[in-house]
Amino acid sequence: MKILLTGAAGFIGFHTAKTLCERGDEVIGLDNFSPYYDPALKEARAAELEHLPNFTMVRGDILDRSTVQKHMAGVDRVCHLAALAGVRYGFEHPQEYVDTNIKGTFHIFDEARLQGIPGVVYASSSSVYGNNKELPSSEEHRTDRQESIYGMTKKDNELMAYTYHSTYGLHLTGLRFFTVYGPWGRPDMALFIFADALLHGKSLPIFGHGKMQRDFTYVDDIVAGIIASIDKNYPYELFNLGCGRQEELMEYVRMVEVACGKEAEKEFLPMQPGDVVATSADISKAQNMLGFQPKTMIQEGVPRFVEWYRGYYEI
Ligand SMILES: NC(=O)c1ccc[n+]([C@@H]2O[C@H](COP(=O)([O-])OP(=O)(O)OC[C@H]3O[C@@H](n4cnc5c(N)ncnc54)[C@H](O)[C@@H]3O)[C@@H](O)[C@H]2O)c1
Repeated sequence: MKILLTGAAGFIGFHTAKTLCERGDEVIGLDNFSPYYDPALKEARAAELEHLPNFTMVRGDILDRSTVQKHMAGVDRVCHLAALAGVRYGFEHPQEYVDTNIKGTFHIFDEARLQGIPGVVYASSSSVYGNNKELPSSEEHRTDRQESIYGMTKKDNELMAYTYHSTYGLHLTGLRFFTVYGPWGRPDMALFIFADALLHGKSLPIFGHGKMQRDFTYVDDIVAGIIASIDKNYPYELFNLGCGRQEELMEYVRMVEVACGKEAEKEFLPMQPGDVVATSADISKAQNMLGFQPKTMIQEGVPRFVEWYRGYYEI
C-alpha cells in the first residue's frame, strides 16, 4: 500500500514507518520537525528512514492545508500520528495544542473525506481517561473529563472521528496509546529523563513521590497494533493499545538502575499538573479484533532503551 504517515520523524512515527517499509509498503512521511524537543533527534530518525528506498520524507506542516492535500493524493491509507504530544507543555501553550492537534487533525480528516481515502488510523491517548478510578480502563468507560489540554485535544479528535464516520462514512480507527517507550524515545518522557540523569550522575526527579502506576508499552508492540489497524481498516473503532500490566513507577526506576548498573540518587517531588495517579489498559478489545498481543515487558524493554541511549549519545 501507499501510506501517508504524519509525524514520521517522531518517536512512534519513525518505528511505524520503518516497519511498514520493511514489509514492502510505500511510505510518505510528513513532519514539520517541530522544535518541541531536540530537532536533531528527529533529523537522526529521518536520516535512518531516508536510507529506505520506499520511504520519502516531506518536511511540511499539517496546518498547511495545501501540503496535506498534495501529499494525500492517491494514497491507500493515512496514519496520522503528528501532534504536540507532551502533557505538561500544553498547559503553557494551549493555542499551539489546539492548532496542531485539533485543526491539524481536522485537515487530515477533511482532506481524507474529500479525496475518498479508504482508511485513516489516528493516535489518541490514554489521557482521554483522565483520572478515572475504574481500572483497567476500557473503551466502554466514560471519557468526558480530561485532566490536561493535551488530553482534551485527543478527546476532541475522537469526537471528530465519530462525526466524520457517521456523516461521511470515512473509515477511522483511533488508538489510545498507553505510555510508549523504547529506543529512539522522546526526551520529555520519564525513561529518557531517568537514563539521562543516571548516566550523567544527576539525581532522578521522581514525581508523585513515586506512588504512580503506569501501563508501560514497548514501541514495537504499539507498532504491531497500528499496523493491524491499518490492515483491518474497520469502518469506525477505538482501541486501547497498552501492555495490559499496571507497573509501579519505582519498579520502572529499578529497571533503569539495573540497566545502567548504578543506583540513583532520587529526588521525590509532588505530582505535576496533568499527571494522573494510575493508568492501566484493558486490551481485550484489541486482542480480539486486532490480534494485538504485547510481547515485551519492562524487564526486557528498558535495557533495550538504555542500550540505544548509550550508543546514540556515545556514553
Ligand atoms: N509516546 C506516547 O507515550 C504516546 C502516548 C499516547 C499518545 N501518543 C500520541 O502518539 C503520537 C505520536 O507520539 P510520539 O510519542 O511519537 O511523539 P513525537 O513528538 O515524537 O512525534 C510527533 C511528531 O509530530 C510532528 N509534528 C508536530 N506538529 C506537527 C505539524 N504541525 N505538522 C507536521 N508534523 C508535526 C513532530 O515534529 C513530531 O516529530 C502523537 O499523536 C501522540 O499524541 C503518544
